[in-house]
Amino acid sequence: MTNSSTMPEFSPAFTWGVATSAYQIEGAAATDGRGPSIWDTFTHTPGTIIDGSTGDVACDHYHRYAEDVGIIAGLGLKAYRFSVSWSRVQPLGYGDWNEKGFEFYSRLLDKLEERGIAAHLTLYHWDLPQGLQDLGGWLNRDTCVRFAEYAAEIARRFGHRLASIATHNEPWCTANLGYGNAQFAPGVADTALSIQVSHHLLLSHGLALQAMRAINCPAKLGIVLNQWPAMPATDSAADIAQAEWEYARSVQWFMDPIFKGSYPQKALDRMDMSKFHVHAEDMDNIRQPLDFLGVNYYFRAFVSTDNPPKQPEGKLGFSDMGWEVYPSGMTDLLLKLRAEYPTLPPIYITENGMAVADKLEDGKVHDEQRIKYLQLHFQAMHDAIAAGVDVQAYFYWSLLDNFEWNSGYAKRFGLVYLDYATQQRTLKDSAYWYRDFVRAQLQEQLVQTPAAA
Ligand code: FCB
Repeated sequence: MTNSSTMPEFSPAFTWGVATSAYQIEGAAATDGRGPSIWDTFTHTPGTIIDGSTGDVACDHYHRYAEDVGIIAGLGLKAYRFSVSWSRVQPLGYGDWNEKGFEFYSRLLDKLEERGIAAHLTLYHWDLPQGLQDLGGWLNRDTCVRFAEYAAEIARRFGHRLASIATHNEPWCTANLGYGNAQFAPGVADTALSIQVSHHLLLSHGLALQAMRAINCPAKLGIVLNQWPAMPATDSAADIAQAEWEYARSVQWFMDPIFKGSYPQKALDRMDMSKFHVHAEDMDNIRQPLDFLGVNYYFRAFVSTDNPPKQPEGKLGFSDMGWEVYPSGMTDLLLKLRAEYPTLPPIYITENGMAVADKLEDGKVHDEQRIKYLQLHFQAMHDAIAAGVDVQAYFYWSLLDNFEWNSGYAKRFGLVYLDYATQQRTLKDSAYWYRDFVRAQLQEQLVQTPAAA
């Protein structure tokens, strides 16, 4: 099945893994003392989720984590990226810790250790404890301090058992979808507020890094950003300028503070700064050295000033989300980052994946589109490495079909098919393809090592 001869070869040290996040898979929303998060509140508000579903049960990973770790091990993968539900370990987001919540993550780590799988933990994958939201959430500066306390507690308990800790997952989404267009929790539509939220997310990242470093956390520390190259639809001056603005307000808006200690002027010039408050010391606090940068890549931004805007041709097709398949955008983006940020740390592709309208037939899922997607993106990633970008890891999104935020359970990204009625897991063809690809990589290395020595 694997045509590994036509696939690029990666370094023996390269890390292959899969990713998930807490609210999307765990379920057990009110079990063992977990407090509600803003996603519990949001999903229980009518009209927010396309299929009216919630993450109350999701993939029931809270009870089936051992089986899920077994699947990762069976695929021959040596790395797993997951997130902690903050309100599971601290129900209100401040005050008492919940020991039962920590015990769950400790059991998960035990299983990963047994199977020799490195754990890559994300502290915040969008599920703020509702207790903190009630005090103003990410609009309240104090939330940044609470986040640093939470980060230090996780690092103190688990740091020695983790390969890496990322502070935030995709703060662009928290700010722009949570507070810009209200598609995500907490469902606020106010662009000016979303800018202030993005500043607090960055500040909380910087404070959390310092808190974890202060206790000598041995795990590698970084952040995960969703990024895209912005490409003008035509050569017109208007489209080019609009694409530059799009790139400034999305990618550089988060990268510049972290790596340069300032916001991009091009973005500031055109943003509504009426609710933007930055304290003198904030930029120094945000600009902290990183051990890695997590990049989530799904598509390019195709920027058109026409009305209605021109749409991309989609030569390689579109996913079930309607996202254009555009693998070379990953290469372009990575090269651009390398050129623009001299202090860029090693890069982990922390997410990349495709939603397909998969069908389970006779116990099988034939998802050729996803296999093609993987092949194209591995090639694109390899092109970036060949051009000098230090990419060290790749995590497919996602291990399992799961709760895809406001799309509910309608969109399937997994390598593993979920029958939500029975919780039965079925490996898709792409899972076997990924397993064989990784295995072939390792075998080729075994064969080559003696000759090269
Ligand atoms: C990313 C999210 C992840 C998942 C994928 C499809 O933006 O980080 O949780 O929803 O998109």
